[in-house]
Amino acid sequence: MTTARYLNNAWYVAAWSNELSRSLLERTILEQPVLLYRKENGDAVAIGNACPHRHAPLHLGKLIGDAVQCPYHGLRFNGAGTCVLNPHGDGMIPTRMRTASYPVIERHNLIWLWFGEVDKADPATIPDFSCHKDPELAFVGGVIEMKAHYELITDNLLDLAHSEFVHEGLLSSAGYTASKLQTIEQGTTIYANRWAPNCDAMPAFHMIFDGHKEGDPVDHWAYMRWDAPAHMLLDVGIAHPGRPRGEGAWIYGTDILTPKDATTTYYFWGITRAYKQNDPAAGELWRQVIKGAFEGQDQVVIEAQQRMLGDRSFEEVDPVMFASDAAAQRARKLLARLREQQAVPRPENPVLSSLRQQHGQSRSPILPVV
Ligand code: FES
Ligand SMILES: [Fe+2]
Repeated sequence: MTTARYLNNAWYVAAWSNELSRSLLERTILEQPVLLYRKENGDAVAIGNACPHRHAPLHLGKLIGDAVQCPYHGLRFNGAGTCVLNPHGDGMIPTRMRTASYPVIERHNLIWLWFGEVDKADPATIPDFSCHKDPELAFVGGVIEMKAHYELITDNLLDLAHSEFVHEGLLSSAGYTASKLQTIEQGTTIYANRWAPNCDAMPAFHMIFDGHKEGDPVDHWAYMRWDAPAHMLLDVGIAHPGRPRGEGAWIYGTDILTPKDATTTYYFWGITRAYKQNDPAAGELWRQVIKGAFEGQDQVVIEAQQRMLGDRSFEEVDPVMFASDAAAQRARKLLARLREQQAVPRPENPVLSSLRQQHGQSRSPILPVV
């Protein structure tokens, strides 16, 4: 069985803000069935999607006020997952008749959920994606479901030198492939930066750079920020050689990965642009690029890679690395460290702990049998 390897004490994106309404939205996150909706006052709610009675999925039910009515026997649950109405018999509600509820924060056009220890849910640890709401910039986004472990997709995004081969004719640039990867680690953030001066432009960027003639060299940059467990923001663009970046064409690319289960991932993508902000066609062009590049190219390779791995983890196949893999490998190591830190200590053996209590000062808690 593929090792799931989730970091529980972390914020995960469950949806874009505009996916949430007064309808019931179903998601599976870290293998847990989740139901999302908005209350009458607009607040986002996330509760367990399995009815505690007979495990019918609540998303097939109805929203009545701020409560969800189960489609099977009509029990109602409020936004805290508590059963508030039993229409049967004397209406008694057993205390265990409740479903999970998850801390929710709506920020930067995203719905963030916490799956770990509730007292550790600190909204200050949500990474900065405020560019999505910047009034000077324009934004498009969506979500793709990929049949692959989320760390395989992280590897892909922290190693953008795959572009020349996977995205030939769209995001390919030989100069970019040859550029040096700079990796910086700060706390739980890793930067994977490439600066490729005086090189060939990626065709997609040539298309959006008004003053650029095909074939003319450009300065290319791609600065990726990764935050645990798999939240990435890319500052990427081109400019005329030696000219300030502000004169070029650039975007912020959002890549946020939320594991559905060990081999399926929700990939929340976003493009935030600083040009043609009022032209919907410019946003539509990026939607098409993402469809072609992420769904038509990355997804095909990564899902095939997952099929090759089967039930084995990436480490199990003893992969051979080279310089371009430095950032991805650092992220894997950092994440492994964070997962270890959250590991729950094994419960103590009760026989040993009672002996320890009786013989607290003794160097050995085990008494001689004779
Ligand atoms: S399964 Fe939900 S009320 Fe019976
Ligand atoms: Fe790619």
